[in-house]
Amino acid sequence: MIQAAEQEVLIATDLEEHTALVAELVARAITEAVDARGVARVALSGGQTPSEAYRYLSSVGLPFDQVEWYWVDERAVPPDSDRSNYGVAARDLALADGKHGRAFRMEGERDLDEVAAAYETLLHRRFGVASAVAFDAVTLGVGADGHTASLFPGTGAVAIDDRLVVHVPAQPDRGVEARLTLTAPVIVEARFVVVLVRGAAKRRVAEAARVPGSEDEVPLRLLQRAKGRVVWVLDQDAAGSSCIDSRRFA
Ligand code: 6PG
Repeated sequence: MIQAAEQEVLIATDLEEHTALVAELVARAITEAVDARGVARVALSGGQTPSEAYRYLSSVGLPFDQVEWYWVDERAVPPDSDRSNYGVAARDLALADGKHGRAFRMEGERDLDEVAAAYETLLHRRFGVASAVAFDAVTLGVGADGHTASLFPGTGAVAIDDRLVVHVPAQPDRGVEARLTLTAPVIVEARFVVVLVRGAAKRRVAEAARVPGSEDEVPLRLLQRAKGRVVWVLDQDAAGSSCIDSRRFA
């Protein structure tokens, strides 16, 4: 049985709807977490796709003083770089005013092995040393090559199961700088994952990720072992004519 077939797939008609669906799903996860546990811990992906949704989210009336933002991955750049996932999300979520939640960034400008170890310790401390590191919401993107977070295909990174955060060495042949990333066990453990996919270039990988196969070839396949709720939000180009079970957000 393919677990992925049971995951929810929403197809947005345009960018506006894609943005609203993603933001409202994350907002709902935040509200539910705060109501249930008094805090919402959200891990954010970078890349270009989530920007509109993060901006929308910052405008929603949420209990931001009980929201903690973490990062799914980070590039080896300082926070003021326009390639900094923290920097971009902090701008989109308007974190500088101190009224939109507390940010725990991955420090991409420092020694990445040390930062990975420190971020892992931070996660254990914030979630509680005896508790699973189970984010209330994780936003995930995907590259046309099938990577998600900074777990790249053909590198074995998706199989790492003894760390929560790792340093991903630079891959000059792919034009990828060194990175920090949450590992698959953390993503799998999340209570809720929303996958953002837009554009025809990602159609094939969005389909491949939902059928059985090698995770090292298509790291986004790790969602087939997700323990929590997974919702895919595609646009029409990414959905194409695939036989996706489309359900409207209700
Ligand atoms: C990053 C990411 C990465 C991203 C995908 C999709 O730092 O690049 O977190 O996993 O989500 O590469 O990126 P786009 O949204 O830009 O296509």
